[in-house]
Order: sequence, then C-alpha cells, then structure tokens
Amino acid sequence: MSNPVRADLRVYPSLESLSRAAAEALVTLAHRALEQHDRFTIALSGGQTPRALYRLLATNYRAVMAWRKVQIFWGDERYVPPEDPRSNYRMAKDTLLDHIPIPRDNVHPMQTLLPEIEEAAESYEETLMSYFTGPWPHFDLVLLGMGADGHIASLFPHNVALEEEARVVTAVRAPEVDPPLRLTLTLPAINHGANVHFLVAGKEKANAVKRALTGSPNAYIAPASAVKPIQGNLVWWIDEGAGSLL
Ligand code: 6PG
Repeated sequence: MSNPVRADLRVYPSLESLSRAAAEALVTLAHRALEQHDRFTIALSGGQTPRALYRLLATNYRAVMAWRKVQIFWGDERYVPPEDPRSNYRMAKDTLLDHIPIPRDNVHPMQTLLPEIEEAAESYEETLMSYFTGPWPHFDLVLLGMGADGHIASLFPHNVALEEEARVVTAVRAPEVDPPLRLTLTLPAINHGANVHFLVAGKEKANAVKRALTGSPNAYIAPASAVKPIQGNLVWWIDEGAGSLL
C-alpha cells in the first residue's frame, strides 16, 4: 500500500490571503526558473478559485514578472469556443492575459474548435512536446484546483482518463458536468511537473481535501491523492474551510 500523500500543506484564513501567498510563491518560482533555464513554463488551472491569483499577477506582480520569458499553457480545458464563458482560456484572458505584456506566441491555449476532440488532444500534446524535451512535459509550475467531488484538472473520479499512463493530454467525456467534453493533462504529465500547487478554498471542498490528503490513496475516488510529483515539489494552498476536516 503506498503512503498517503506527503504534501506541503499551507492553510490560510481566506481565499484572498491564500491567493496572495500563492502569488508570492509563484513569482519566486518564476525568478528561480529564469535563473536556471531562462524561461518559466506554467500550466494554468481553470474554475473560479485561481481568479484572485491571476488578478494579483496582473496587478501587484505585473512589473516583477519577465512576461516575455513566461510560457503559458493550460492543465485542462472545456471543449467550448474560446469566447464561451465556461472556457478556462476565457477566464485567464479576462483576469490575466488581457492585462499583462506577454507576447501572443507565449500563450498556448488548448484548441477547442476542431471537429474531433481526440485530434485536439493530439495537437496539444505536439505543442507541449515542442517546448519540452523527452517524453513528458516538465512544467516549472502546474496549478491545480479541486472540485467538491475531488476532480482535478478534468480528471474526474471513476473516469477512465485516470488510467492513462502513456498520453500527455487526453480527451475526457464526463457526462456529470457541463460541458461534458474536456481536454486534460494526464496524471503522469502532472506528476512530471517540477512544482505542483493546489489552490483549494471553501468548506464545500473539505471532504474532498480530507480524502485526498488522508487515508490510503485511491486515484479513482480521490484523483488528487495520485498527484505525487516524481521529482517535484507539491504544495497545497488551502483556506480554513477547505481544511476544516483535517
Ligand atoms: C476546470 C478546472 C477544475 C477546477 C475545479 C475547481 O476546468 O473546471 O480546471 O479542475 O479546478 O473544478 O473549480 P473551482 O475553483 O471553480 O471550485
């Protein structure tokens, strides 16, 4: 039986305070990455939780980030047009991308307008592997959120996508959510990240956080429990509500 996740758990009174701390840490990681290999590669998370972090990067930290050396990718995407309000790209565009001097060529959204979603998964895999050497992407930072059901990126409990061990990006059919068609990094792609940071807030996430961080890991029930960076660092940024059952 593998051991429970050994995570660096950081608990804050509010989403606002955890977002500020996570933004500070992100900037530090970016500066370190630039020193080490003259670029900072990040896979953004979607949903609502990271909005405050993205806004901070676009305001308080805008001037301390070397945006022309930042490469922005996504950890997952809903299979809707980029202007759709459900799009993770649209959320990042509204809160961050439209407010920072980042070259357009440094922003790599997942394609969501191809007729076949599998084609879009393959296309994004090619995009990623043109930026990284070797079989897996080594993002300097992977940002993840977590749903109340325990899903991370677009890896949902009991979904066959959790079993994917060879692909970097896979298509997901999740009838329980809207929209049901998604693209997502796979667990091995996430686990090859140099740093993986979860941002989770709200009492409604407390059960999922407890399942993810305690007891014997079970990716099918708690996908987050399978996030164990192979040579990277794992940090959970949570508020007191999300941590209230720990
Ligand atoms: C997505 C996200 C997803 C998100 C969780 C939490 O595409 O929706 O990538 O994994 O992180 O659903 O969403 P909230 O932050 O809105 O609670």
